[in-house]
Amino acid sequence: MKTRLKHIRILVLHGPNLNLLGKREISIYGKVTIADINRSLNAEAKRIGVLLKISQSNHEGQIVDLIGKAAQGKAFDGILINPAAYTHTSVAIRDALLAANLPAVEVHLSNIYKREEFRQHSLTAAACIGQVAGFGMMSYILGLNAIYSSIKDL
Ligand code: DQA
Repeated sequence: MKTRLKHIRILVLHGPNLNLLGKREISIYGKVTIADINRSLNAEAKRIGVLLKISQSNHEGQIVDLIGKAAQGKAFDGILINPAAYTHTSVAIRDALLAANLPAVEVHLSNIYKREEFRQHSLTAAACIGQVAGFGMMSYILGLNAIYSSIKDL
């Protein structure tokens, strides 16, 4: 195992409508808010010794730009992303993840494979190391640990 001098830096991206968590489709997503998720992520990041930058955007192009910038100048070591609805539609986000060439983990609050058919396919997951879905807020915590364990010995 290598000893790292610098902290691992992870970019966390929340996609469209995740700013509405807590008010939006509570029967599916529960009452957890994006602020709750970010608080838990920051606490877990502190515990494992990772630095996070967290952004939410409702705009596909902005998410593409954030992924592109993450790779420039080795600004980040990895990406934790919930592409939300863009999971199922966005070739642009998939291509941005592939171009960034950074390890990425996709997360979903809900189990997309037991929902409507159109949600059961992810265009973006194939550009990621793996995916965690169905554990609510815990998907993000598991995803953060998954990306951390993939990166830490690189
Ligand atoms: C989601 C699942 C998507 O299908 C949906 O469009 C979302 C949230 C999830 O976290 O379960 O906005 O990504």
